[in-house]
Amino acid sequence: MSQNRYENMLPSSLEQDIDKKSAFLKNVPLFAGLVDIEVLALADVAMVRRVPTDTIILLAEEEGDTLFVIANGRVKVTVMSEDGREVILSILKDGDFFGEMSLLDGKPRSASVISTDSTELVILRRVDFLSHLTRFPEMASKMLATLAERLRRTNRQVESLALLNVYGRIAGTLLQLADDQGTSSEKGLTIAERPIHQEIANMAGTTRETVSRVLNDLERRGYLARDGRSIIIQDPDRLRDDFFHLT
Ligand code: CMP
Repeated sequence: MSQNRYENMLPSSLEQDIDKKSAFLKNVPLFAGLVDIEVLALADVAMVRRVPTDTIILLAEEEGDTLFVIANGRVKVTVMSEDGREVILSILKDGDFFGEMSLLDGKPRSASVISTDSTELVILRRVDFLSHLTRFPEMASKMLATLAERLRRTNRQVESLALLNVYGRIAGTLLQLADDQGTSSEKGLTIAERPIHQEIANMAGTTRETVSRVLNDLERRGYLARDGRSIIIQDPDRLRDDFFHLT
């Protein structure tokens, strides 16, 4: 199977505009701290592609030699069982990177990555990425910090899938989403663009129907309120204490 899926992706208008590409790269946490000339060097070798929603960007088990940074959009990192059940390991957004694992250990892709929105991607080849990583220790330590954070989250997810009932797993998923993208106000923690019920189900190891039922029940019992695609967790501490007690 092709390891260079990006060859079939549409070039984006950002591709030609080196100043805009550099401006974007400068704001990516992974590259913060690089001096202008280095950012420019990265921008010069980076490709930019746009993919529509539901595009397989990386497929688990394929060989890989590229790193992706999300310029804008959203992707899910998933593993799939033989009978087609999907577990969502993570949802990544603007400024996040993926595809680093195969570059670091030379093994096939550890998971599939699929766009869940129209998504613009900055793509770096292995040689360009690795040469920056070895020359800039700050970039390496930022990448390690992100990998540590991802391992922590995955540990929480494994614990939660193994030890909690479905209310606990869904509560944990909502609290994690609030942690990632929530905004705080006197009403509580708002998750503005919540994932669809099927995605919440695939993060919490349950079905879409159960997610609908549990969210309705949590709303009726005053743990959360809903407004279109937004969920407001009115009292995060109460939700955590009542359902999400891991240790
Ligand atoms: P790679 O293995 O090259 O291709 C799949 C990518 O998915 C992987 O690199 C990581 O960037 C990302 N990935 C794999 N597992 C996780 C996880 N548990 N959490 C977040 N991202 C992950």
